[in-house]
Amino acid sequence: MTRIVVVGSINMDLVTQASRFVGPGETILGERFLTVPGGKGANQAVAAARLGAEVALVGATGDDAFAQQLRQGLAAENIDLTHTVQLDDYASGTASITVAGGENQIIVVPAANARVTPAQVEQAQSLIARADAVLVQMEIPLETVEATLRVGQRLGVPVILNPAPAQKLPADWLKLARYVTPNQHELAILLGADPDEDFRTLMQHAPCPVVLTRGAEGAWYREQGEPVHQSGFQVDVVDSTGAGDTFNAALAVFLHEGVATAVRKACAAAALSVGKLGAQGGMPQHDDVEKLLARTG
Ligand code: RIB
Repeated sequence: MTRIVVVGSINMDLVTQASRFVGPGETILGERFLTVPGGKGANQAVAAARLGAEVALVGATGDDAFAQQLRQGLAAENIDLTHTVQLDDYASGTASITVAGGENQIIVVPAANARVTPAQVEQAQSLIARADAVLVQMEIPLETVEATLRVGQRLGVPVILNPAPAQKLPADWLKLARYVTPNQHELAILLGADPDEDFRTLMQHAPCPVVLTRGAEGAWYREQGEPVHQSGFQVDVVDSTGAGDTFNAALAVFLHEGVATAVRKACAAAALSVGKLGAQGGMPQHDDVEKLLARTG
């Protein structure tokens, strides 16, 4: 079984579905509200587990009412929480999300996620040493992102860095990642580049291998120096929240099959994930991905 370690955030998502986004100073009536587990780290852990991997999550919750729900949800997906700490007198991370027309707007309050430490990553070394891949995102302190990249490098385990939400990072950190997985906007921020520059040119100049996500248009990666496009799978979109997380999880789980296959499966998994409300609601099982691939040739 593929083993994945995820280092990242755990949030409770407070999701409002509405007919459109609200403007500054405006009040509108929404259609539906739900409280569902999220956070990029937790989402990637859940997606990887549903795709058949054995998964451990390095992270933090607070000790509030959300913490119990979040931990129970992760445990129910068979995710190892040995290295997920529960912090006294801390709130758990939250994300206030508006979903309108399949798009979303998100405000994250990191709370306990801001206390995921490099020491936790060091303590998880023996787990990381046995992993096939490590996933890390940027809703936790940057020093912990760096520690994850360095521990992965030291142990010879591939680290996939999902640079979201994006910040400019030093080139020597990026060189430690096996793949960096931004969208077009995140790639420009990550490299401190002009956002209008062609993404293929930016990919060419990045100091690390890039798998670039393009939503419904699929993804781009490079093989033997040349840009390669993997088309997206056409589906009806209910909620795109968590599609990127599903993509990253699938890339990590199927990386051992080669980057071309992994990116194709990642696009299929991400497409399936957008059919239901909530980041984790539509995340597929491995069989669902194989069926979609078989149907679409
Ligand atoms: O990537 C989607 C996630 O971003 C949401 O679940 C939300 O918690 C934010 O972290």
